[in-house]
Amino acid sequence: MLKGKTIVLGITGGIAAYKAAEIASKLTQAGARVEVVMTDAATKFITSLTLRNITGRPVVTDMFEPASEWSVEHIALSEAADAVLVAPATANTIAKFATGIADNMLTSVVLATKAPVIIACAMNDNMYSNPVTQENIEKLKDRGFKIIEPAYGRLASGKMGKGRLAELEVIIAKVDEVLGGRGDFKSKRIVVTAGGTQEPLDPVRHISNRSSGKMGYAMAEAARDRGADVTLIAAPTSLPDPAGMTVVHVRTAVQMKQAVDKAVKKADALIMAAAVADYQPKTAAKGKIKKESKDSLTLELVRTPDILGEVKGNFVKVGFAAESENTVANAKAKLAKKNLDLIVANDITDPQSGFDVDTNKVTLLDRSGKVEALPLMSKRQVAEQILDRVGKLVGKVD
Ligand code: CTP
Repeated sequence: MLKGKTIVLGITGGIAAYKAAEIASKLTQAGARVEVVMTDAATKFITSLTLRNITGRPVVTDMFEPASEWSVEHIALSEAADAVLVAPATANTIAKFATGIADNMLTSVVLATKAPVIIACAMNDNMYSNPVTQENIEKLKDRGFKIIEPAYGRLASGKMGKGRLAELEVIIAKVDEVLGGRGDFKSKRIVVTAGGTQEPLDPVRHISNRSSGKMGYAMAEAARDRGADVTLIAAPTSLPDPAGMTVVHVRTAVQMKQAVDKAVKKADALIMAAAVADYQPKTAAKGKIKKESKDSLTLELVRTPDILGEVKGNFVKVGFAAESENTVANAKAKLAKKNLDLIVANDITDPQSGFDVDTNKVTLLDRSGKVEALPLMSKRQVAEQILDRVGKLVGKVD
């Protein structure tokens, strides 16, 4: 999976920086295009010339360096990346990633990219075990960053501890896995819907709901990072299109149904995280509806199609149930009514699992009657939990 892929290799200033030369060499030999970005501190440990000779590509060391191919628009580098690997990553750079600081080319690329980011930590063992570093790493994990823990061994200080850069093979294997070469969803086709549909009343107004799309996007990204071939069918959201998947933009429930029916033809699973409007205006006015002298306005609404309930085909079906009362009982009824394999229920009255937040607290119910209440976790972690179960249902996933 490395062949033909563009990998941004970020190198930060630690003693393990010299090992980045071997990583760059392995990735280049495997057919990847390696774009090296070094922090100032990294250039104190290894020269950019070494990396340039290994990769055959210009090396970026300074955001404002005119000679660099990418310096004109550093965003271009973040967009070109299929994956970003930071090896070695120091505690300092990890802290910047966790807080969104973009004060050099590498931190700017990581902040701007939509590609998966893999971080191979290497630092003094006390710096690694410091709670602030651990908190930063946890934060990044929650956001979907892939963390390669340091290995135990002899450190630069001479003592033994957990802080050495992981073995080269471990790092290369992780990159390959993230690019879909080894993920447990390799060659599985997953269709995910996200966002809240909009049902137009006239050219300027619509009926919609408060869905942010965050849960569905987290689902799609998690499936992508586990090697799936993902189609994300998105109702309007304010989120950017994730890299590495097919994104189909729709507006209404009817449009979403058409897109879903088409996408599921070859799918292994459909995960309906979208908040689909249950009703649409019977007719959408061609021109803008005027107030004129009306004191009140009555809208006639008709049912939209039940996309999940009506979809046909032999694939795993996962629904979401947003409830404000009797969560489990209502979700159970929906699971049966829509003939689902799994339903993800959440109580929308809980502020930590409501709209537009990054966390969710869900209960998973499956066809066999199993009910699992999961603790509060990030939407990304919820997505991973759902995929663990979908993987078993799809069967062939190991
Ligand atoms: N869903 C769908 N098409 C619809 C409505 C909902 O495919 N027209 C899907 C949602 O994406 C979700 C699941 O069905 O995965 C349950 O959605 P929800 O709105 O909670 O259930 P409804 O069946 O609409 O029931 P109610 O609104 O009465 O709670």
